[in-house]
Amino acid sequence: MSASTKRGLVIAIDGPAGAGKSTLAARIARAHGYINIETGAMYRALALKAIRQDVSFDDGDALLRLAEASTIKLEPELERNRVLLDGENISERIREQDVTDAASRVSVHPGVREWMVARQREMGEAGGVVMEGRDIGTKVFPNADIKIFLDADPEVRGSRRFKQNPHVATEAHAVTQEMRERDERDRTRASSPLEAANDAIKIDSTHLSLDEVIAEAERIIARKK
Ligand code: DC
Repeated sequence: MSASTKRGLVIAIDGPAGAGKSTLAARIARAHGYINIETGAMYRALALKAIRQDVSFDDGDALLRLAEASTIKLEPELERNRVLLDGENISERIREQDVTDAASRVSVHPGVREWMVARQREMGEAGGVVMEGRDIGTKVFPNADIKIFLDADPEVRGSRRFKQNPHVATEAHAVTQEMRERDERDRTRASSPLEAANDAIKIDSTHLSLDEVIAEAERIIARKK
């Protein structure tokens, strides 16, 4: 699709867990009349289906077949995405710890990733989209108009995540530890590991408020527009 027929920019936001990508994506999307797409929710949806159908997280072929037999829909809402798996609203369930762990494991398989990337391109190719994940700027949309890599120190990310989900029966330090393990898996997997694209602009949110992060992102967008 040529730039002139696009509905708007493709804005890619990547980074580790708990950096604040979903909130930033939702706020930017709202400000520009774009849609926000949380790609992690798709890996979470497949992970939930694997849990329910007792498919091994290590069996890439079976997971790909499971994905191909699934309909995963993301419906952009003001703060997050409503996530539908084969028509069922699983938005809350996929935030639980067992699905979080499983999502990190199902996402290592190249076949699963290819399937996800193809769906994500379909969702974003018309433009007017803020897509967030781990490989958006490197793999899904290497020609994205704007690429932001949002990071923060692990302790800060862990404590933010803990505040988001205080009902989860774990201590803050356990959340941080779990996040470190997940980051390690996301950063070291062979297929599209989490890394900043060469042309991504980095924002370190360790010492920034949400409003400051949004302001920084808006400056980046304004410079590129
Ligand atoms: O962003 P999240 O925490 O909902 O992502 C869940 C898992 O999915 C995470 O461990 C990494 C993986 N993921 C991925 O590999 N690629 C993406 N584009 C998004 C998420």
